[in-house]
Amino acid sequence: MNKVLVTGGAGFVGRHLVRRLLERGDEVHVIDSLAEYTGGINPDSLWPLFDPRDFKNFNFYLQDCREWFYNNKDDDFDYAFHLAAMVGGRLMIENNPLAVADDLSIDASYWQWAKETRPKKTACFSSSAAYPISFQTEENYILLKESMIQFDDNIGMPDMSYGWAKLTCEYLAKLAYSKHGLKSVCYRPFSGYGEDQDDAYPFPSICKRAIKESGSKQLTVWGTGKQLRDFIHIEDCIDGILKTVDQINNGNAINLSTGKYTSFLEFAALAAELLGYNPLVTGLSDKPAGVFARGGDTDLQKELGFIPKIDFRTGVDNALKHYIKNS
Ligand SMILES: NC(=O)c1ccc[n+]([C@@H]2O[C@H](COP(=O)([O-])OP(=O)(O)OC[C@H]3O[C@@H](n4cnc5c(N)ncnc54)[C@H](O)[C@@H]3O)[C@@H](O)[C@H]2O)c1
Repeated sequence: MNKVLVTGGAGFVGRHLVRRLLERGDEVHVIDSLAEYTGGINPDSLWPLFDPRDFKNFNFYLQDCREWFYNNKDDDFDYAFHLAAMVGGRLMIENNPLAVADDLSIDASYWQWAKETRPKKTACFSSSAAYPISFQTEENYILLKESMIQFDDNIGMPDMSYGWAKLTCEYLAKLAYSKHGLKSVCYRPFSGYGEDQDDAYPFPSICKRAIKESGSKQLTVWGTGKQLRDFIHIEDCIDGILKTVDQINNGNAINLSTGKYTSFLEFAALAAELLGYNPLVTGLSDKPAGVFARGGDTDLQKELGFIPKIDFRTGVDNALKHYIKNS
């Protein structure tokens, strides 16, 4: 049995990771402040897909992780998964960049704590937002490859303060390894999705709008709708994490992506088709859309033995059925 720390473990990615860790018998310690505007859910208000309190090896601390790091110096963690972050959807990233910059302080506190307590392995959650936005424009986009970010050569301009903070966390991971021998891996998830994701994200909001507008002649999405994203099912993300976590130790990053682009227009049309109608899908140009195209190369994931299994059509279909059943 491993002793595992999961910061931000009450959030969307965290809940799925925590379930898999509990099911394999790990002793899991979740620290989460349930920060406003994030996807955090209190276990006492019931997590949507399972109840972690059914597991006696589940421990929850409702606390800002910076405070927890300051007061807790347990030096026997086998794994520390550091997910805590001010994320929110696109509105948060674009309209509240200084709140998101809190991630710099969260990550700095994490690495100070890790230096003192030396968890055997750290997994940090960076983001595809760390990649240079110059490779994500309508005129110039390509699948983003891990090697495009080289701290000793070129890093480019990431996406807003969110991307900067994630890039800084990755840099700290490299320093923690080279200066202090701390083993870690950084994950760059692309558009992780699942039925229990917060409504601030495109996935649940497009699915729920498609259900609400069922049978209509028109359906709307944010931005032009032409923006392309690499949607990866959250359970595939967790498979990818568990498959690769012991294979990278020097703080290097790895994508969690499928290498496939889907536009918001295509996504909404697919949801409508699965619901049995065929609307005209149009964009809402007053809403932020973010970069034009963000998709992740999959070569490194394949090399390390991870291939996502859930195709987007199946993921959307399952989510629609879940929302209809639970409405
Ligand atoms: N979901 C994705 O597709 C995706 C994509 C790229 C990166 N990521 C990264 O993965 C991680 C998890 O993302 P998510 O989608 O689950 O977001 P989320 O908002 O659902 O979860 C983040 C959690 O962190 C907690 N938190 C925030 N500040 C905290 C603090 N100071 N102390 C303790 N807890 C705090 C929040 O309460 C929340 O529960 C984040 O680091 C995010 O940047 C996720």
